[in-house]
Amino acid sequence: MSILYKLGPEVQELLHEQVMPLAHVPFSKLPRAALLLLSDGTWVPGVRVESATFSLVIPAMLNAVTTALSLHRLDWVAVVSSAPVSLAEEAYLTELPLASFTKVHPHILINGRTSSVPTLSHRLPPTLPESITSPKDGIKKARHVTQHAYIPESHFPVGCVVQTHDGHVLPGVNVEHPNWSHILCAERNVLGTAVSYGLLPLKTIYLSCPEAPLGTPCGACRQLLVELAPTATLWMDRATNPPEQTSPDLLLPGAFRGSMLGS
Ligand code: THU
Repeated sequence: MSILYKLGPEVQELLHEQVMPLAHVPFSKLPRAALLLLSDGTWVPGVRVESATFSLVIPAMLNAVTTALSLHRLDWVAVVSSAPVSLAEEAYLTELPLASFTKVHPHILINGRTSSVPTLSHRLPPTLPESITSPKDGIKKARHVTQHAYIPESHFPVGCVVQTHDGHVLPGVNVEHPNWSHILCAERNVLGTAVSYGLLPLKTIYLSCPEAPLGTPCGACRQLLVELAPTATLWMDRATNPPEQTSPDLLLPGAFRGSMLGS
């Protein structure tokens, strides 16, 4: 494991110079980033994403883990954090039944169940889904990614794909946790991913709720949509109902915004 204690300069550069500046921290002004190492040497980034509703913050490490799950990557080797890993972050990882993380250094946890040898190569990002050609195609792709939802608590799959103005496409699924306060919805997951890859602003968000004809973004997601994707078009696909188009502003009129805090 000693190799992990000696993070090469390229990993330090990736973490501190490339990923950490992408953190959305208008309130604390304290950028944080984490990198999740996959078995093929790919690093999945996660940055801290703050909300005007402070408690809706997406911590960096949770952001990286939930992004990996959306990408259907579970071959986790290690997590590296820009700041000493807090007890809360450590608990998030160690209580996740998908892995067996142990803290081996103030900034590093390794996944004990992995048998692969970590390679500290500089590979980012993982392969993302191909481009979206029409709303129908976006909805189809969102429905497809619901298969990757990690839902041992609710068995209620939700999936998203988002498209940026320059054509990048990112997936997001709901990711559950034994501690329900750490559960991240599909919409907030994909927003955290877009921030971590530096891919805001978003053009279109396709949301799929295949099992609920009346499924709709929860209040927490509406808040983050207004804050991080205010100009996006949102398509909602619910069970057998025809898709419906809406927008973050329509979903949350009179939203509480960061500007009200002087940020
Ligand atoms: N969920 C979402 O993914 N998006 C929403 O907007 C509503 C709720 C997820 C969270 C949790 O995994 C499950 O659905 C039940 O709330």
